[in-house]
Amino acid sequence: MFSSFNLSMNVAIPLIRRACPKVRHASTAASKRNASKNLSSEDVFAREEKYGAHNYHPLPVALQRGEGIYVWDVEGRRYFDFLSAYSAVNQGHCHPKIISALTEQCSKLTLTSRAFYNDVLGEYEEYITSLFNYNKVLPMNTGVEAGETACKLVRKWAYTVKGVPKYKAKIIFATGNFWGRTLSAISSSTDPSSYEGFGPFMPGFELIPYNDIPALERALQDENVAAFMVEPIQGEAGVIVPEEGYLSSVRELCSRHNVLFIADEIQTGLGRTGKRLTVNYENVRPDLVMLGKALSGGIYPVSAVLCDDEIMLTIKPGEHGSTYGGNPLACRVAVAALEVIENEKLAENSYKMGKLLRSELMKLPSDIVTTVRGKGLLNAIVIKETKDYNAWKVCLRLRDHGLLAKPTHGDIIRLAPPLTIKEDEIRECVDIIQKTILSF
Ligand SMILES: Cc1ncc(COP(=O)(O)O)c(C=O)c1O
Repeated sequence: MFSSFNLSMNVAIPLIRRACPKVRHASTAASKRNASKNLSSEDVFAREEKYGAHNYHPLPVALQRGEGIYVWDVEGRRYFDFLSAYSAVNQGHCHPKIISALTEQCSKLTLTSRAFYNDVLGEYEEYITSLFNYNKVLPMNTGVEAGETACKLVRKWAYTVKGVPKYKAKIIFATGNFWGRTLSAISSSTDPSSYEGFGPFMPGFELIPYNDIPALERALQDENVAAFMVEPIQGEAGVIVPEEGYLSSVRELCSRHNVLFIADEIQTGLGRTGKRLTVNYENVRPDLVMLGKALSGGIYPVSAVLCDDEIMLTIKPGEHGSTYGGNPLACRVAVAALEVIENEKLAENSYKMGKLLRSELMKLPSDIVTTVRGKGLLNAIVIKETKDYNAWKVCLRLRDHGLLAKPTHGDIIRLAPPLTIKEDEIRECVDIIQKTILSF
């Protein structure tokens, strides 16, 4: 109905459009806004399909509202959110303390650029560096920018501190890594759907298998290696948990070979896996830590790299930055998002609820759910594919039963609710998952 109205406008009044373009533009925009109010889920899918790039394949559910562990679709159906926007919404949807920090700051000062000082950045920098015990922080926006920043920092450090010959520095990555979609990030990817067709790729990147200490030891023999970047648990690869002791061996080898250890905690950090950082499980201190996602509680893109002066101060004024990085709105939001994690003890809750969730999931029939793995509330189940069901079909039926999760790599379903979830809610969700699995 909406599109035929549009069409008749176009056909009927070409002269008006020429004579009075502003009037037509305003009325079209107004009618679009009205139409949006009453869109069905099907309308939402069709509109995105028509006007948006086809770079995602969303589960068919059209969300309109979120609060805590729940989201609601445009028809008013309520769902448990078991993806948490890929761990950006650790604090729960629209956490009131983070929203109030945002609204308070956004009517005061939002963006100054780094051409000037602002009165929030330093407060945030002081807070986050003391919380994580690093000398300095470099603020950026998206997670992938934190990764780019870490790569630039370690290259500069290699040339100015370690003494690697100019432009010979190498960064080692683990197979299965995921740190975003820029050309650098996909240059280190082993997933063809990330890199295929986008070359040429960034030089100076090398790969070793994940969770393979002898391979790391061999790679570090090369004196031009600046750093090893690794996720303490590989989220996008399907929640791949390395063997106990992996992170401490990485630390030990990197120190021995004068190579920097970059921990990508963008998905695993900030309570998601049951500790403030996943490296805390092995009491390991990486040289650089990348944070993002839940650093804003899903409210605004905020990312960061933490490290000490020897590394951070290799980058001088004018050598790196971002218009939005470190803006007062982002800083206020990030402080509130971190305070919520700390004050509400979300890491502790994640640890306990994760244990409960996995112990219940282990009771699912093992001929369908072949594996349950994870730490804290970053978990995955592996679904054995048959002609009747696969991970996608399971997720569609979970949706019909009121729980949203997303398949990854065909047969894996990640289960990662907001960290505010309580025991009775976990039990209710386990019932939904069980009912769904047994319905095939
Ligand atoms: C471990 C890890 N690093 C980096 C990123 C990139 O973050 P962003 O999508 O905000 O650029 C992601 C995103 O999923 C991630 O999981």
